[in-house]
Amino acid sequence: MLFSPSLPSNNTALRDALYAGHIFKIPAAPAALEIVRNLKMRLEENMGYPLEQAHLYSPAGNLFLMLQKFRAHLLTDPIYKNFIRTLMKENGFQPQGNAFDPLRLRAVLHDGHRNKNAARAYSLHRDTWYANPQCQINWWIALQDATEEQTFSFYPSFFEKKVENSSANFDYARWKEKVGFQNTRGNGEIDYPSAQETPEAERQGFSCRAGEIILFSSAHLHQTNRNASGRSRFSIDFRTVHLDDHAAGKGAPSADNGSRPDALSDYIRTEVS
Ligand SMILES: [Fe+2]
Repeated sequence: MLFSPSLPSNNTALRDALYAGHIFKIPAAPAALEIVRNLKMRLEENMGYPLEQAHLYSPAGNLFLMLQKFRAHLLTDPIYKNFIRTLMKENGFQPQGNAFDPLRLRAVLHDGHRNKNAARAYSLHRDTWYANPQCQINWWIALQDATEEQTFSFYPSFFEKKVENSSANFDYARWKEKVGFQNTRGNGEIDYPSAQETPEAERQGFSCRAGEIILFSSAHLHQTNRNASGRSRFSIDFRTVHLDDHAAGKGAPSADNGSRPDALSDYIRTEVS
C-alpha cells in the first residue's frame, strides 16, 4: 500500500512520520477545494479550453507562453501565499513555524513525454537533490481527478537507499543565476539533478481526486508518469520546511544527496504578528 492508512493526530507526529518515509493522501477540504476551483477557472478562461484538453491548444508554443505568464502571476499575487498559509493551517501546520516556497503549476500534457524538449520533466529524482533541506515536505494537489497514468510514481523502497545521480553538480547559487524559479530566466546551461540508473524496485503510482493532498518527504525518489490517457493533467505543488526541525537537524535520511545548499535561504517566512 503506497499511502499510510491513518493520519497522525498531531503535527509533530505527522512530520516525524513523513521524515520516516510515510506518504499520505489527505481528503479534499475547503481550502484545497477553493484553490483548485480558483486556478481551474482562471486557467480555463486563459486557455479557452477545459484543462484536460490543453494539448489541443495550438500552436503548442502559445500554451507554454500563456503558462509562463500565469506562473509569473502566481509568484507575485499575494492571494496565493495566503492560500498556502490557509492550507497549512487547515492541515495542522503553523504558518509562523514553517517556511515555504511559492506555488508551482505543472502541466503534464497528453503525450507530452514524446516532446524531447520536455524530457527533464520526466526525470527520476529526489527534490532534495536541488539543494533542499532533508526535512522538506512536498504538498501536491491535482486540479482535476487524475488516474494513475496522469500522476507520478514513487520508489518507496529506495527512500533510504542510494541511487547513482548527478546531484553533486547542482549548485543552488548558480542555478538561481542561470535559471530561476519555474524557469523564469530561461534555460541556462544547468545540469538538472537526476538518477543515472533505474532502480530495480517496485514503482508505485496512484490515482487521486481533485483537491486531495499528497503529502510526502522531498527525499522520496519519484518520477512523472507518461501520460497517454488523452487527457492533460494540471497540478500545483509547494514545499514547507519546519524551521525548528531544520535547526535541530531533523529530517529524512540522506542516502545520496550531493547538491550544494541552500534553497531554504529564499523560502518565504511568515512574521509572528
Ligand atoms: Fe519532484
